[in-house]
Amino acid sequence: MSQQTVFRFPTRNVFDDLTSYQEAIPTPSRDEVLIKVRAVSLNSRDCQIATSKYPFAIKERVIPGSDAAGDVVEVGAGVHDFAKGDRVVVSFDNTRLYGPAKDVVSGQGGGVDGVMAQYIARSASAVTKIPAESPQSYSELASLVCTGVTAWNSLYGIKPLIAGQSVLVQGTGGTSMTALVLAKAAGATTIVTSSSDEKLQKVKELFSPDFCINYTKTPDWAAEAVKLTGGKGVDHILEIGGVGTIEKSLAAITQGGVIGIIGYLAQYDPAKIPNVLLLALGKEAVLRGIQIGPKCMLDDLVTLVSRQKLRFHIEKEFAFTREDIVSAYHALASGKHIGKICIVVE
Ligand SMILES: NC(=O)c1ccc[n+]([C@@H]2O[C@H](COP(=O)([O-])OP(=O)(O)OC[C@H]3O[C@@H](n4cnc5c(N)ncnc54)[C@H](OP(=O)(O)O)[C@@H]3O)[C@@H](O)[C@H]2O)c1
Repeated sequence: MSQQTVFRFPTRNVFDDLTSYQEAIPTPSRDEVLIKVRAVSLNSRDCQIATSKYPFAIKERVIPGSDAAGDVVEVGAGVHDFAKGDRVVVSFDNTRLYGPAKDVVSGQGGGVDGVMAQYIARSASAVTKIPAESPQSYSELASLVCTGVTAWNSLYGIKPLIAGQSVLVQGTGGTSMTALVLAKAAGATTIVTSSSDEKLQKVKELFSPDFCINYTKTPDWAAEAVKLTGGKGVDHILEIGGVGTIEKSLAAITQGGVIGIIGYLAQYDPAKIPNVLLLALGKEAVLRGIQIGPKCMLDDLVTLVSRQKLRFHIEKEFAFTREDIVSAYHALASGKHIGKICIVVE
């Protein structure tokens, strides 16, 4: 078998533009491994790319998807630390081994081709081996790549989370739910906000966060978060809403706390953009822009997740057919999910 199914977006207006192609299975070069993809995890970014709403440049006819987990099936002659049969995940930006991002166009499924294929060849240096005893499914492992590393980077990238500190995550999507699992594993006090009581109920059943706030019913969720932390304010906040929620995050953060600038989902009135600089100054807060994270963070995340056997919530798995993948995009865009939406690749 030398051909495989690969999905591309020849145009990017609607999810239905996704098109199936038969293409050659790549031959790994000396420093590459060939990976049989077993699962792809979708992200909000994938929906933005498919509809030309992503704020950064996209490759023509891009193969979508940044997050893959799979099995090594072939090893280049110069690769010594992987063997056939190893379970692996691939770093979001294959060129970023450590340190800050060098650009905004090297992420898989965006400026370069992604992982929505049966087989991918990648530089061994961009690949992380999953320890054999790790209990997570391929979908859970794939989900570590983008939202997982983003959550890790927010909590540990600049001023590491310390046991006993507090963490607030906005909403119940992939990034926030992964951060919740990591924060609980670190012994933090956790606060989850959501637009939905039903979602919060399910999150309580799945993860037992310390506190939940419905941000629709309690619009001043910042004051509530300050109250819940005994008047101190929150130590780490994952900012998912962006301009529309940053003022509240700056009200909720403790003096000297860290806000990971991650998402941009909240509506906002351009006439009422807050004076973020002054608010941050008043709190001596760290506002840190995050672009996923380097491969070394994926390594650290995999070590923790594997040793502590942490489990992540996959809301639904779809099949590797055009129709099902399009349905997966719609499911993610509907915002009805908690955690992750994934595609299982046969
Ligand atoms: N900078 C980075 O490196 C990076 C990495 C990953 C993701 N992101 C960005 O982060 C955002 C989330 O990505 P994701 O993949 O985690 O998304 P997702 O799984 O689709 O989850 C989105 C969730 O965000 C919550 N949300 C929406 N508007 C909100 C608001 N105004 N206030 C609080 N929560 C709100 C909703 O939760 P409820 O329904 O529970 O309210 C929604 O379910 C996106 O903007 C994405 O582009 C950035």
